Amino acid sequence: MLTKKQKNVLDYIQKYTQKKGYSPSYDEIRKHLKLSSVSTVNHYVKILQEKGFIKHEKNTARSTEIKEKEGYIKIPFKGYISAGLPIEAVEEFETISIPSRLATQGSLFALSVKGDSMIDEGIFDGDTVIIKKQSSVEDGETAVALINNNEVTLKKIFKEKNRIRLQPANPKLKPFYVKEIIIQGKVISTFRNLEEQEKKDGKIRFNNIYRSDCVEFMKSMDENFVDLTVTSPPYDELRNYKGYSFDFENIAKQLFRITKKGGIVVWVVGDKIKKGNKSLTSFKQALFFQQVGFNVHDVMIYRKKNTPFMRSNAYTNCFEFMFILSKGSPKTFNPLRVKTVRQGHEKLPFNKGADGINRKVLGELKPEKTMTNIWEYAVGYGGSTCDKIAFEHPAIFPERLAEDHVLSWTNNGDVVFDPMCGSGTTCKVARKNNRYYIGCDVSADYVNLANKRLSI
Ligand SMILES: C[S@@+](CC[C@H](N)C(=O)[O-])C[C@H]1O[C@@H](n2cnc3c(N)ncnc32)[C@H](O)[C@@H]1O
Repeated sequence: MLTKKQKNVLDYIQKYTQKKGYSPSYDEIRKHLKLSSVSTVNHYVKILQEKGFIKHEKNTARSTEIKEKEGYIKIPFKGYISAGLPIEAVEEFETISIPSRLATQGSLFALSVKGDSMIDEGIFDGDTVIIKKQSSVEDGETAVALINNNEVTLKKIFKEKNRIRLQPANPKLKPFYVKEIIIQGKVISTFRNLEEQEKKDGKIRFNNIYRSDCVEFMKSMDENFVDLTVTSPPYDELRNYKGYSFDFENIAKQLFRITKKGGIVVWVVGDKIKKGNKSLTSFKQALFFQQVGFNVHDVMIYRKKNTPFMRSNAYTNCFEFMFILSKGSPKTFNPLRVKTVRQGHEKLPFNKGADGINRKVLGELKPEKTMTNIWEYAVGYGGSTCDKIAFEHPAIFPERLAEDHVLSWTNNGDVVFDPMCGSGTTCKVARKNNRYYIGCDVSADYVNLANKRLSI
């Protein structure tokens, strides 16, 4: 299924390629369709690629190749999954185009999804799901089912003794049970409708990277909009990020405004040493964050496993701070766990009795414990990331660092933001974990880099 804007982009690429024998550049597409930026073009190209309408060669200037026309087929689109109507009774007003590779799977139809009951399966409100008609599914498969003879629902199906469990894929929702069910089909693919999301949130589109000064960008965001920010500022002009200014105080104020109640900002920062004196800018920033209203919920350490020797009269610096700033008490904390060193059974101390004697009883050692607040990562290629392209940015943080915070402080379907996203690390891991992402960087080069990295 293509929206009008997506179809315009596809038509232009198609006509251009037929005429010239090669595809248009991103800039030509941008100019012809009067799109705001090359990253918007990249966004459409990515969708066309995901939907199978074009092939896309990485990192080349003219990089879009049209698939043959017979590369897609039309299937019935039956609108929203709605209560009260069996699928067969839904009148088919429309058809949608899907990649023909899916056609080999049998008789298909498409539905639009309402609600967030399946977000853990990567199916979000407004998505379109492709359903293969069939009358039974394996345990745990996601199916469209008719229940109570008149209600259609999309859930994971489990056969239990004397009943059938319909399991939402969302930890906030409980399963429900029925005696009988009529399976109408199984979900085989999902397409995200980004334009629907754009309409829903009004201004900022999810799953997109913007080129902007982050203060200006945040001003255009609604209050209480973001669940988690994971970011690293250009600290103490340590590196020259193409010479842009850095207005820390307004960044802190805007971050507080756009963070949801109970949301978190992870501020990853180190200090510069000038004439043997550490700047302590990191501390000053943490204190200012408190001043604008954040709690300093924790001060964590990002320890780098492999750091080069740097100073002759001090120990090698091997860490940066990760300030965990919360707007009120954190609304989500999914503690990451590690294996304990010793496991199995052992005599453990037991409560002293009235006689004061410390008795020991045989007990089981806990196999796991919550991690400490010092997190260690290898840095460099193969450590921070295996995406070679990311190293075109001088100061990336490790993917696992960003991912560990995303998993700790958010749930599926939450909004993750990086106002200074550089090579796009935070955005990449948010997408990987079924969170919505929004990235922003003042440098056009880095926005292009992040977009390329996310299209790998
Ligand atoms: C330390 S880097 C972030 C790297 C990122 N965490 C990664 O893993 O790739 C800081 C970024 O802030 C950006 N930046 C500097 N000033 C900015 C501003 N005013 N608004 C938005 N981005 C800015 C720089 O272009 C740079 O890419």
